[in-house]
Amino acid sequence: MTTDEITDLLTEAYISEHETVMNYQTNAIVLDGVHAEEVKTSLEEDVQEELDHARMLGERLKQLDESPPGSAAFEASQHSLQPPEDTTDVQSVIDGVLEAEDNAIELYRSLHEAAAEANDPVTEDVAVTILADEEAHHTEFRGFRKQFPQD
Ligand SMILES: [Fe+2]
Ligand SMILES: [Fe+2]
Repeated sequence: MTTDEITDLLTEAYISEHETVMNYQTNAIVLDGVHAEEVKTSLEEDVQEELDHARMLGERLKQLDESPPGSAAFEASQHSLQPPEDTTDVQSVIDGVLEAEDNAIELYRSLHEAAAEANDPVTEDVAVTILADEEAHHTEFRGFRKQFPQD
């Protein structure tokens, strides 16, 4: 059975995935320089996966007889993922992605926990499926960060 906590978390995640799509797409377009190509390609691929996450979350809300939100509910929160002023600053985008993926991992862990407590195995399955993708994204960008040692 479902709870308000579950539908709230599904709605928050749905909005967050759309914000991620916008920021990954923008950064995939704006970055310049010899170090940018791999990161741009990876961001392009992840845009499709994040959009897929949004679709899964929206469909789960529909199954629970709730509607996914439209843009009027949108509140931006990914301040560290705004396109950098210096378009060769690949590292700031990598750091922004790592922060966004950390937040996503935390959100899907909360969703999984709430669904387990409410005995809602279908939402649990959605949370675990998406969580696995976010952990993979995080691992990939942690690898990119190793190429850019902090000074
Ligand atoms: Fe996602
Ligand atoms: Fe992700």
